[in-house]
Amino acid sequence: MKGIILAGGSGTRLYPITHAISKQLLPIYDKPMIYYPLSILMLAKIRDVLIISNPEYVDLYKNLFGNGNHLGMNIEYKIQEKPKGLADAFIVGEEFIKDEPVSLILGDNVFYGVGFRLILEEASKLKDGALIFGYYVNNPRDFGVVEFDDKGKVLSLEEKPENPKSHYAIPGLYFYDNTVVEKAKSLKPSKRGELEITDLNKEYLKEGKLKVSLLGRGYAWLDTGTYDGLANATDFVKTIQKRTGLYVSCIEEIAYRNKWIDKEQLIKLGKKYEKTDYGKYILRIADELEEK
Ligand code: G1P
Repeated sequence: MKGIILAGGSGTRLYPITHAISKQLLPIYDKPMIYYPLSILMLAKIRDVLIISNPEYVDLYKNLFGNGNHLGMNIEYKIQEKPKGLADAFIVGEEFIKDEPVSLILGDNVFYGVGFRLILEEASKLKDGALIFGYYVNNPRDFGVVEFDDKGKVLSLEEKPENPKSHYAIPGLYFYDNTVVEKAKSLKPSKRGELEITDLNKEYLKEGKLKVSLLGRGYAWLDTGTYDGLANATDFVKTIQKRTGLYVSCIEEIAYRNKWIDKEQLIKLGKKYEKTDYGKYILRIADELEEK
């Protein structure tokens, strides 16, 4: 399975912070926002990742991750000329996806929860159909909303409905079979002029091939789209890291635990940031975690 991170958009809801910088590079506590979605793909054991961003920002991401080899990964880049919607990622990414299934994660979505790794590993085995998630929120109107019956069968999907049929929002993490590319191409732009991911999911629903997995209340799915959302996400990560001493979304640690890099490489990566707590953490992991 391949992975795509969509790090586009104009970030107008965060102006003036995002006036001159890509939103997904803003810090959430001690690391750039995009580390969080990247770590989710890594936990799903997805090694081949495409980052899609605006023409003016794509080089910043290249500076950050290069070709990904230092993490034992392959990271590629593509430009999305205009913010044409989430489903456009599969059209922009067609050559990268080739004939494989693909997962899409939005560059501003932060997830955290015990056992997520297992859910993700299972999800990344998908070969046929689509898998989305449902997460209970206070403000479903702001999101794609999924309605389902008591057996978990999806009844309806709606994008930012005025009168939501449920409290379950659809987070920005999706797993699709390879037909997603053709399905994306067949979509028509919505009223806001975008190829909507919700319309794409409706295609799978029509075929009876859409599954929804609910993320329970033990999971955090954080909003980073507003000033307060950003500040809260920073507080959240800081609290967890300070209390447990274990880091959220340390991509070097995950690469090592996945056995994509060896201890020598982990130490090399830690030394790059030696002066910071982040770098010291990487070196501590190298010291504590035996190579198996
Ligand atoms: C998009 C999707 C929406 C989804 C949300 C998750 O909304 O259209 O269905 O629930 O991401 O972050 P947007 O950020 O484009 O408003």
